[in-house]
Amino acid sequence: MQVSESIDGTIGSESPSTTRWQRRSGSLFRWSALTLGATVWTSALLFGLYILAFYAAAIVEGEVQTWNEGLPGLYEPDKEAATTGIGLHFAAGGIILILGCVQLLENVRRRFLRLHRWLGHLYIGASIVAALGGLTFIAVNGTIGGTVMDIGFSLYGILMLVAAIETIRHARAKRLSHHKVWALRLFALAIGSWLYRMDYGFWFMLADGVGHTNDFRGPFDRVMAFFFYLPNLLVVEVWTRTPRLTYSPVTRTLAAVVLLLATAFLVIGTYYFTKYEWGPAIVAWLPVGG
Ligand code: HEM
Repeated sequence: MQVSESIDGTIGSESPSTTRWQRRSGSLFRWSALTLGATVWTSALLFGLYILAFYAAAIVEGEVQTWNEGLPGLYEPDKEAATTGIGLHFAAGGIILILGCVQLLENVRRRFLRLHRWLGHLYIGASIVAALGGLTFIAVNGTIGGTVMDIGFSLYGILMLVAAIETIRHARAKRLSHHKVWALRLFALAIGSWLYRMDYGFWFMLADGVGHTNDFRGPFDRVMAFFFYLPNLLVVEVWTRTPRLTYSPVTRTLAAVVLLLATAFLVIGTYYFTKYEWGPAIVAWLPVGG
């Protein structure tokens, strides 16, 4: 008899052939997906706090020239519009990474709908500011990596703008299934900025940064100008368009192993980023850090 099961092991129609192995592979998949989600959230949250601590705090303290320690050319004294654009984009980007985690939590949406709506407006507003700020910087200054990076990052900004507008538009019209899909797209785009750093971190660790140049015009940099957001969007498209499929316990176990491996990589990356870059900046920013 055919048993219909989704990848997380939910049984479509009970049957005697529903074995313990099937159930166990289903829970293994669910737990590995949850672990990966929690790791992404924690890591993105730390990166968001780092942006506020390093980039946004420099605006308040009047020390915007320190931005160039992160990436040369971010601050140029004679380009006020570019500085304003990228400064707003930093503050908004940090907020997005911190809020994204809260907005996707099912429990928060169900139990605290007003909070979800309130934070949702902030999230959408911040996404629009981050995108417009980044686009202004590209228009006035151009990116460090030249034309390819300009195109990759501009497309990123335009997609984020569209996703933010569509998310709020469908929420207002109470088209909740559309709202949910666009919100997922927006989240996938927003974590792209975090993935960009993670990908570079791994590339340096595993391949010694081959294909990267200091002016971000190497072959690896050119691929990365698109690779930090297009794959994430693709995952959302596949995930939201794939109906409940029948998966064997072997497929589910393999999928769980892939998710756990990805989690292990992210934990290692987050550990090193936090130890050497994010952590010290966040601690120095906190009142107790001095
Ligand atoms: C969650 C959203 C975002 C966050 C957290 C974020 C964060 C950052 C950070 C921290 C930097 C500093 C450089 C670095 O550390 O690599 C940066 C640079 C930049 N970002 Fe974003 N960003 C976000 C969204 C966007 C979007 C949507 C655009 C598209 C227009 C964009 C365009 C840029 C550009 C053009 C630069 C400067 C690159 C250069 O120096 O040439 N960002 N961003």
